[in-house]
Amino acid sequence: MGTVFELIKTRRSVRKFRQDPISLEKLLKLVEAARFAPSAANIQPCEYVIVNSREKVNQIFPLLKWAGYIHPHGIPGKGEEPSAYIAVLISLKKKKKKGEVDASAAIQNMLLTAWELGIGSCWIKSVKRRSIKKILRIPHNVQLDSVIAFGYPAENPVTEDAGESIKYYKDDKGILHVPKRSLSSIVFNNQYGLYYEKEKLVVD
Ligand SMILES: Cc1cc2nc3c(=O)[nH]c(=O)nc-3n(C[C@H](O)[C@H](O)[C@H](O)COP(=O)(O)O)c2cc1C
Repeated sequence: MGTVFELIKTRRSVRKFRQDPISLEKLLKLVEAARFAPSAANIQPCEYVIVNSREKVNQIFPLLKWAGYIHPHGIPGKGEEPSAYIAVLISLKKKKKKGEVDASAAIQNMLLTAWELGIGSCWIKSVKRRSIKKILRIPHNVQLDSVIAFGYPAENPVTEDAGESIKYYKDDKGILHVPKRSLSSIVFNNQYGLYYEKEKLVVD
């Protein structure tokens, strides 16, 4: 599928999925990728619930907020729902504060490993925590950080250099465009505020 750099550049948040199931072997591989993420003081506070039963997948779906900027157009339609979720948890017994940083590193490992397997994903942090914790029987001393949606992609979002706005949008063909701030606008030369000349910023 490509180098890490290529996977990083081509991975997009996917919100329309084919309905083929993802094997348990592949879902476990995603957690295996998460397990090897960097972790502050190597505490490794994260735990995971793989959600792949039809019943639970259906129960979780309405408890997630999809694509706020284009609501309701980013919500997967009928027959476009994710095949599985991985709920990313932080054990407060292992780490009381700032576990989200560890969770985020673990999540990025999962997103990239999924993409290497041809699996699309969407990191969803805007979730109805109380209801999801009840459905998945997550105890009080375990925090629900995010829910990651997975499925084989049925859309191919594109990126472009951001102009005025960083808000993603759909064009009249229904393609999702994701503006990324340009390299020239975010990197400085030895001193904050000193921009590189555009010709120097060629990256392959
Ligand atoms: C911390 C975090 C929380 C996010 N929460 C949501 C969410 O609740 N719902 C959603 O649809 N997308 C969510 N996303 C996905 C972002 O919308 C997406 O990463 C961003 O638009 C850039 O698109 P890309 O992932 O294709 O590069 C989240 C991403 C991050 C990093």
